[in-house]
Amino acid sequence: MADEKTLDTRVKVHLKIKRFNPETDRRPHFEDYEVLLRAGDRVLDALHLVKWTIDGTLSFRRSCAHGVCGSDAMVINGENKLACVNLIRNVGTHLTIEPIRGLPIIKDLVVDMEPFFAQYRAVLPYLINSDEPGYKERRQSQADRERYDDTSKCILCACCTTSCPIYWTNDGYIGPAAIVNAHRFIFDSRDEGTQERLDILNEKSGVWRCRTSFNCTQACPRGISVTKAIEEVKREILFDRI
Ligand code: SF4
Ligand code: F3S
Ligand code: FES
Repeated sequence: MADEKTLDTRVKVHLKIKRFNPETDRRPHFEDYEVLLRAGDRVLDALHLVKWTIDGTLSFRRSCAHGVCGSDAMVINGENKLACVNLIRNVGTHLTIEPIRGLPIIKDLVVDMEPFFAQYRAVLPYLINSDEPGYKERRQSQADRERYDDTSKCILCACCTTSCPIYWTNDGYIGPAAIVNAHRFIFDSRDEGTQERLDILNEKSGVWRCRTSFNCTQACPRGISVTKAIEEVKREILFDRI
């Protein structure tokens, strides 16, 4: 077991961060920074150190710092990740950090999430049921609950959608995150909006744009089988029309 001294040993971490200030820059550029961190610190700690001790103008989103809110998705050494759950000992001491791709950059690592949330809203991501709920909860079996357990873990971080090559080249594609959140209700036995959602996802902006690249599954910090969920929705649309 590592002793206390080893745990507290600091290492030099080099960061190359893509910066963009819309008021002064015509295009994004990289800037370099060095900070001292412990191997058990997170990439988010590195960004905080840069912001708090070197350059207070660095902009990035974060809130919970524990992999729950989904606000600090960024491209870390070429892969979409959450800064708050990736430790220096796992990602290395030379970090290239960029904003997630496919969404407009507002400033530095902050992108405009509105197109992403508009696509999320488009799939009606809430329970639709016209029955009077009464005094008890709407019950379902464990097997029925299991059906959408995986997709219920989504934290809307956009790591999946912004790692999808189809999304980069066609912002009309609704994207994997929206499909995951549609799946969560399509396969909920208590929901009555399945047909409406399947119709939305059967449009040209929907599931058929997916070319099964699997980037989304690889990028998901919650370990959701994103591509499998998309395939299940595709099958449901086909089944529905036979
Ligand atoms: Fe993030 Fe995974 Fe949800 Fe995509 S499916 S938004 S990667 S949590
Ligand atoms: Fe894109 Fe994922 Fe399909 S990366 S192409 S949505 S499998
Ligand atoms: Fe909330 Fe990273 S800050 S998920």
